[in-house]
Amino acid sequence: MNTFTGPLILAAKQLRRTLKLSPIQFVFRRLRQNGIRLGTITALEAFGGTGVNQTPDLYAAVKHLDIWDISPPRREMLQRKFPRAKVTIGDSYLMIQSPRNTYDLVLMDVGEQMGDRFEHFEMFPHVFNALNNPGVLIFNETPVIRDRDPERLRQRQEFYMVKDPSTISWAEVEAAYNRRARESGWIIDHFFRERRWVFDLKSDPMYYTVLMLRRL
Ligand SMILES: C[S@@+](CC[C@H](N)C(=O)[O-])C[C@H]1O[C@@H](n2cnc3c(N)ncnc32)[C@H](O)[C@@H]1O
Repeated sequence: MNTFTGPLILAAKQLRRTLKLSPIQFVFRRLRQNGIRLGTITALEAFGGTGVNQTPDLYAAVKHLDIWDISPPRREMLQRKFPRAKVTIGDSYLMIQSPRNTYDLVLMDVGEQMGDRFEHFEMFPHVFNALNNPGVLIFNETPVIRDRDPERLRQRQEFYMVKDPSTISWAEVEAAYNRRARESGWIIDHFFRERRWVFDLKSDPMYYTVLMLRRL
């Protein structure tokens, strides 16, 4: 059984959600404090999976949600759980290259390795083309990793332009996204992070990184 989706973990996640203590609920509070009226916006969950992490919170918070996932059997499950959402099955790394719609908020809940891709790297810079102006990007960040996979380290080094890709400071993370945003014609108005507590002691510390962006 997957440790992330066992019955105890699911119950713990649900309890945390009910108590309004989920990490994504803290992110939403900060977005609201910064003037984002979540109930009026459109959003994309680019890696829907089984929809047990933050998808229920995002679905409940926004006006309209599109969900993408690569796995055909997930279509029915996601559509049943989130009946008002539009579910699309396909490879998100490819779909993001020519998005049919644009969104006020795009969330990328990627794993460390997805097939032969690592983290969210190949979603950039295309993901900027899926954003309305102003727009919000939320994605997973693991600044310190124990993994020594040479290809993952090489891609981290290239993406963040750092000396040590296994231990990246927040200043380096911030600099990398400021640079990437500018290269694509955007500016980051607010940059913040929220620790994700993923109920797995073996996992590297993971954060939601949040970029509030507008066009230059
Ligand atoms: C970390 S999980 C997402 C969890 C989900 N957001 C939730 O709330 O439960 C990542 C998911 O992305 C999906 N996936 C993997 N590769 C993909 C790809 N290339 N395109 C779209 N989805 C992919 C897999 O189905 C996997 O379950």
